[in-house]
Amino acid sequence: MEVLQRREHPLDKVIEVPADNSQHDLFYKAQQFHEGIRKGLWETELYLLERTVVGPLKDRSIVRDHFSGNDREMIMMGGNDYLGLGSDPRLAEAAIEAIRKYGTGTHGSSILTGQTDLHLALEERLAHMVGCEAATLFTSGYAANLGIISSLAGEGDAVINDTINHASIIDGSRFSGATFRTFKHNNVKHLEKVLQECQAEYQGSLVAIDAVFSMDGDIAPVPEIAELARHYGARLMIDEAHSTGVLGEHGWGSCEYFGLEGKVDLVMGSLSKGVGVLGAFVAGPKEIVHFIRINARPRIFSYSLTAAHVAAILKALDIIEQEPERRANLWRNINYMHRELRNLGFDIGNPHSAIIPVMVRSDKKLWPMGRMLQEMGIFCNVIAYPAVAPEKTRIRLSLRATHSMADLDETLYAFEKAGKAAGLI
Ligand SMILES: Cc1ncc(COP(=O)(O)O)c(C=O)c1O
Repeated sequence: MEVLQRREHPLDKVIEVPADNSQHDLFYKAQQFHEGIRKGLWETELYLLERTVVGPLKDRSIVRDHFSGNDREMIMMGGNDYLGLGSDPRLAEAAIEAIRKYGTGTHGSSILTGQTDLHLALEERLAHMVGCEAATLFTSGYAANLGIISSLAGEGDAVINDTINHASIIDGSRFSGATFRTFKHNNVKHLEKVLQECQAEYQGSLVAIDAVFSMDGDIAPVPEIAELARHYGARLMIDEAHSTGVLGEHGWGSCEYFGLEGKVDLVMGSLSKGVGVLGAFVAGPKEIVHFIRINARPRIFSYSLTAAHVAAILKALDIIEQEPERRANLWRNINYMHRELRNLGFDIGNPHSAIIPVMVRSDKKLWPMGRMLQEMGIFCNVIAYPAVAPEKTRIRLSLRATHSMADLDETLYAFEKAGKAAGLI
């Protein structure tokens, strides 16, 4: 039998491929990767990924620092707990109370056993919050995007993606079996061209976009996109993962920000970021949401959020409503950091959210800069390929309402030092 030629793997460039047959073993790429680790090739990268927080996830957290081997305090610029709700004792109390009442698990998918009256109350509240008829829950944003898109789109349809959409929208589009189309980032002219083609070629079309883009922090021109989708008979789904709790007068996302409540076909919102807990939801017309609720595979074939999660989310929504000063503080911090990072000479693109990309554009500079920041006590995300294109590597900051001015100034000081050392400023 003829032996197939092995596909090239990116690691082949750095590690010699043995001539024997071992390369045809499925485990070979993992073994090859670990050979790289043994040779010390990715020590910095590995130490800056998969870091471990020891204790509460707060504005300053104790992090296991693999470089020094010690647990030490770092300013948390990595997690997306935008309103600082994740470590609020009121959420913890609500979760504990729910565990006492409902137990620790839900023991089934929502469609079979995994739904309580608390789940239904939350769904109703979420729908009301974003001005839609109905909403339904998912255990994560990833599951939501997979489930929403694949329950609506299929063979013969098209899903039209912004090129820098979050991986979960892209994976959901591919998983659906519909034709995968893209338009240039935030380019409505290009979207119109793609919509014209799709109108002629496919049964149904779904335009799916991030409202705030997770790596760039910029915002989509939602009103123009909604108008175009309507004009060409396509449906629109927006992912509010990074705008829930952040954008709009009450923090209900980009639809509120643009005055489009109830006017976008489907709104996917996150409960893990601005809301500080876990999970996601989709909101829209009652019949469509009901269809998704009983057809989305991640809802049917996977267990639901626990009552503890749901109770903590409900408490977080109370706090978001009662404490608008949190959002005001967040925006004070956002505006301050945008201005000061630009004043230092960094390229931060065009963000309009709590996500700030500090562009590095070079793998060679990226990892040493990330390491230096960590050594100065700043925990931020080092973003490399495949999360972004190799020429668009960056350090990403995620701001919080609860970061103090001292947190921000220490971060700026460290960025100035690291940016100079890397030759960025
Ligand atoms: C835009 C966007 N959508 C969806 C997700 C997935 O959400 P989750 O982490 O809840 O799975 C993310 C995640 O990080 C995201 O940035």
